[in-house]
Amino acid sequence: MRPLLGRSLVAVARGTHLGPCRLGHRGRPAAPLGSRILTQPEHVFRHNMWDHVQWSEEEKDAARQKARENSAERVPREEQDKYDRDAHKFWDDFYGMHQNKFFKDRRWLFLEFPELLPPNPDCGAARAGQSGSNESAEAAGSSFRILEVGCGAGNSVFPIITSIRDGRAFLYCCDFSPRAVQLVKEHPDYDPSLCHAFVQDVCEETASFPFPPCSLDVILAVFVLSSIRPERVQSVLHRLAQHLKPGGIFLFRDYGRHDLSQLRFKKGQCLSDNFYARQDGTCVYFFTADEVRRLFTSAGLTELQNLEDRRLQVNRGKKVVMRRVWMQAKFQKPQTTPTDVTHQP
Ligand SMILES: C[S@@+](CC[C@H](N)C(=O)[O-])C[C@H]1O[C@@H](n2cnc3c(N)ncnc32)[C@H](O)[C@@H]1O
Repeated sequence: MRPLLGRSLVAVARGTHLGPCRLGHRGRPAAPLGSRILTQPEHVFRHNMWDHVQWSEEEKDAARQKARENSAERVPREEQDKYDRDAHKFWDDFYGMHQNKFFKDRRWLFLEFPELLPPNPDCGAARAGQSGSNESAEAAGSSFRILEVGCGAGNSVFPIITSIRDGRAFLYCCDFSPRAVQLVKEHPDYDPSLCHAFVQDVCEETASFPFPPCSLDVILAVFVLSSIRPERVQSVLHRLAQHLKPGGIFLFRDYGRHDLSQLRFKKGQCLSDNFYARQDGTCVYFFTADEVRRLFTSAGLTELQNLEDRRLQVNRGKKVVMRRVWMQAKFQKPQTTPTDVTHQP
C-alpha cells in the first residue's frame, strides 16, 4: 500500500513526488509514493493497483444505485438482534475456521501511521506508569503506550512488536474473540514484556482496561469500528478517547462508502443503511468522511487527517478491475491548556 501521509490529494493526483523514494522488493525504485495515477485507460492492466482514482458522475450514480438495490430488502427484524448480541461468537467462529490465515500483515502501518512509534529515544523522561492503577508492571516501565482495539490474530500486533523491541513502547491489544487473543498469545513473537493481549468487548459500557484513563499515546483501530453496530460506535469512541493522554492520537483505517465489498452484497443481507451481515454472521459498515469526522470530533478529538482512499485494484490474470474505497483518519486529543490545569482539582 502506498502511503497517503496526509499529503494534498491534488498534489498527489498531479503526480508530484513528495516523499522519499523507496526501493521495491527487487531493489528497483518503487513507484513514487501515492503517485501511481492512471492517465491512460489502456494501461490499466500494467499494475495491480492505481492510486487516487476519480469516479465519474456515472460511476457514482451506478454505485449509489447498486447500494440502494442491495439494501432494499433487509434482514428480517426478528433476526437482526442476533448479529449484535452474538457478534463475539460469530468472530470467534471466524477465527476457529480461518485461524491466522485470513488477514495479511499490515505492512503499510508505519508508512501511513508513523505516529505509532515514539518520536525519538530520548523522550522517555516522563514516566506515565506512576499512576498507581492496575496496569501491568511491564507497561509501567514504558513511557509510550499503544492500544490496538480489535487486534484479531495480530496482523498489526506483530509488525508493531518487531518495531518496539528496544523497549521504548508497550503495546496493549484486545479483541472480543477469545480465539483471536489466543492466536496472538501463541505466536512465537508474542513477548509479554512488550505486549499484553486481553479479551475485551469495546462495546461493553463497563469495560475495564488494564491501564488508567489518560494513559495512552496511540489507539489503533484497523477495520474494527466497521464491525460494530453503527448506533454503538459513538459511545465506544467516547470511552476509548478517555484513555488517550492529552496529545494522544487515534489512528483509524476502515471501509469506505461504496467500496466494492459493499456493492457485492446480495439483497437480504442489509441490516440498516450501509450496514450488512456477511454469510458467516460478521457485520460490516461503510463510512463516509463526514461520518468519521462527526464521530471522532463528538468524542472530543481534533482532526489531523481524514481521507477517502480510492483505488483501482486490478487482477491482471483475470483482467478484472475493482473499485476500492477505504477511509483513513487521525484524530488527536487536545492538549490540556494552562487555564484548564489551573482549574483542575
Ligand atoms: C476485520 S477484523 C480486523 C482485525 C485486525 N484489526 C486486522 O487488521 O487484521 C475485525 C476485528 O474486530 C474484532 N471486534 C469486532 N467488534 C469488537 C468489539 N466490540 N470489541 C472487540 N473486538 C471487536 C473482531 O473480533 C475482529 O478480530
